Amino acid sequence: MEFRVTRTTTPKKRPPEAGLGFGKHFTDHMFRADYTQEQGWHDARVLPYGDLGLDPAAGVFHYGQAMFEGLKAFRGVDGKVRLFRPEMNARRMATGAPRLCMEAPGEADMVKAYHALVRVDVDWVPRGPATALYLRPTLVATEAFLGVRPATRFCFFIIASPVGSYFAGSAGLQAVKIWIEPTEVRAPRGGLGATKAGANYAASLHAAMAAKKAGFDQVLWLDGKDHEFVEEVGTMNFFVVLGQTVVTPPLSDSILPGVTRDSLLTLSRELGYKVEERPLSVKELKSAHRAGNLKEAFGVGTAAVVSPVGELAFGGEKLLINDGKPGSVAQNLYAELTAIQRAEKPDTRGWLQVVE
Ligand code: COI
Repeated sequence: MEFRVTRTTTPKKRPPEAGLGFGKHFTDHMFRADYTQEQGWHDARVLPYGDLGLDPAAGVFHYGQAMFEGLKAFRGVDGKVRLFRPEMNARRMATGAPRLCMEAPGEADMVKAYHALVRVDVDWVPRGPATALYLRPTLVATEAFLGVRPATRFCFFIIASPVGSYFAGSAGLQAVKIWIEPTEVRAPRGGLGATKAGANYAASLHAAMAAKKAGFDQVLWLDGKDHEFVEEVGTMNFFVVLGQTVVTPPLSDSILPGVTRDSLLTLSRELGYKVEERPLSVKELKSAHRAGNLKEAFGVGTAAVVSPVGELAFGGEKLLINDGKPGSVAQNLYAELTAIQRAEKPDTRGWLQVVE
């Protein structure tokens, strides 16, 4: 793919870095490419941020053929801007698209597109601690028709948002209260859970709202078959520390293969923690808590990086974890990963790509 670049003639006023929040502001430009069976992927361009101009019969609006990605560009302490593991996001979209009967651009082209957009909007990459430029690559069905079958036309676009802390009003780690959801599921076995399909997020909203109403921040998702095994927390992968061991559920067709999950498993091993990827039941969490062995729990994802869990609630029962405060493993992993992302520590694993 060759990219055309059309720069805006009406740049926006950039928001102050303090209080950026998450996903509230959008940069001056976006990336877009279109797919038809005749032409393949074509018309790849960076253009001023704006409407997509889709037909109301476009497949995305009716049968939900839509998926997205999330990755970040960081401004390092040396002033250079770097993308974090962009090839993993491109691979996840490329491998998820066939499950939704969609066409994705080639992985190398998607990575090139991330670079092209960040290059044009480089002044939007914030400088402060815990800030980044969040990229949202998105793939939607654009063919206008109402028969139920896979679309034959798609649009791939990327928008970018300067972000601060995912949690309003907090610069550092804040423990959240989590409701263990007994009935609704985020993704069933054999479903879309391992893809970043918009449908998974639609499925999660109802229980998340009910949890918020009941005074919790998010829900812990259990498996869709027996409602027994832990899968994800909110929109994140789930880690616990049992005794001295970092434990997370193994990847399956109902768990998203998180880039942060993979990175923090690597860092956990390198920092000398014992790591286990294995099924984790609510029963085990409860008995570990009773035995004083449930030392920490936290969510991990691109947006929040690490989100410590201070309390897990199930029915009338409440498990207080680490006195409701962020634990040392969560804090160490957060510090290590963010130091690498900001080039405060060397990137010995080839995780970062400089945007030039
Ligand atoms: C992430 O943590 O990267 C997520 O997937 C959350 C995002 C949907 C806002």
